[in-house]
Amino acid sequence: MKFYFAPMEGITGYIYRSAYHTYFGGIDKYFSPFIAPNQNRSFNSKELNDILPEHNEGMVLVPQILTNRQEDFIRTARDLKGLGYKEVNLNLGCPSRTVVAKNRGSGFLACPKELDQFLEDVFSSLDLSISIKTRIGRDDPGEFYRLIEIYNKYPLKELIIHPRIQRDYYKNQPNLQVFADAWKLSRNPVCYNGDLFTPDDLEGFIRQFPETDTVMLGRGILSDPGLICRMKKRELPEKQRYREFHDAVYGEYQKVLFGEKTVLFKMKELWSYMGSSFTNSGKYVKKIRKCEKLAAYESIVEDLFQEQEIWHEK
Ligand SMILES: Cc1cc2nc3c(=O)[nH]c(=O)nc-3n(C[C@H](O)[C@H](O)[C@H](O)COP(=O)(O)O)c2cc1C
Repeated sequence: MKFYFAPMEGITGYIYRSAYHTYFGGIDKYFSPFIAPNQNRSFNSKELNDILPEHNEGMVLVPQILTNRQEDFIRTARDLKGLGYKEVNLNLGCPSRTVVAKNRGSGFLACPKELDQFLEDVFSSLDLSISIKTRIGRDDPGEFYRLIEIYNKYPLKELIIHPRIQRDYYKNQPNLQVFADAWKLSRNPVCYNGDLFTPDDLEGFIRQFPETDTVMLGRGILSDPGLICRMKKRELPEKQRYREFHDAVYGEYQKVLFGEKTVLFKMKELWSYMGSSFTNSGKYVKKIRKCEKLAAYESIVEDLFQEQEIWHEK
């Protein structure tokens, strides 16, 4: 099984990715949170920083682009090729209202004609691999059957499917019926993404789809950075590894972010997921959420690591 790390805007930037790769790893491909180009520029400085090769050493990274304008996609993909990238990914999944209102992300799925033209222009202009990360529709899962006909016209590097519609955001269950059809209908290699949070989830998925050879995971890894090790039945990472991982992310954020509040905002978001890696972490995470000073934050984290253990459910 190949494992991909899902792009997660605001969280899995290069600092998180590099620390994860150093202390846990086991990932075949990382995807960058989306780059949103406009007419004037391919990426802003934050986006460029995220995908600079020197910030992503030793890992396979695929930059993701969010746009519905072929000119912007083509220019940005060429710029990324200039930086050494061999594959770029098109975001057809973002459910955010402001993105969807502009017919981008999962909003683009409701404009099949325009999407088809976009892909035709993109594939005829670019000589690098292009993959797609898609939901199964904007308003209705039935939209997928028209979309797969479009995807099948182009030689995608792979089609990563998160089987929800826009309105689901991350709620409700992934639609495995439509995914099963997608698996049968797709001419391109398919990767599954959605709600694989434990080794049991993965085993259940494999029982249902024994031929799938690639899965992408997001929130599961944020909640337990040791999840891939557990899924691969490797030695379970010790608490010290989580500590070093935390300290690396925290140290790097302090170097590049301005002000205690900004660093704390990032660490609070990280703990909103990673708290569940520990036994009885509720009260510590609550205190972290209320924290306003780095010194207080450090002392709570110290207590958590001293007093609690890593929680490895099956
Ligand atoms: C906070 C957050 C940010 C996300 N950012 C992106 C993004 O930039 N690009 C993208 O394609 N998907 C993004 N996603 C979706 C994830 O990549 C993934 O498809 C989703 O979380 C489902 O996978 P999971 O159940 O393994 O988490 C984001 C999800 C979350 C929760």
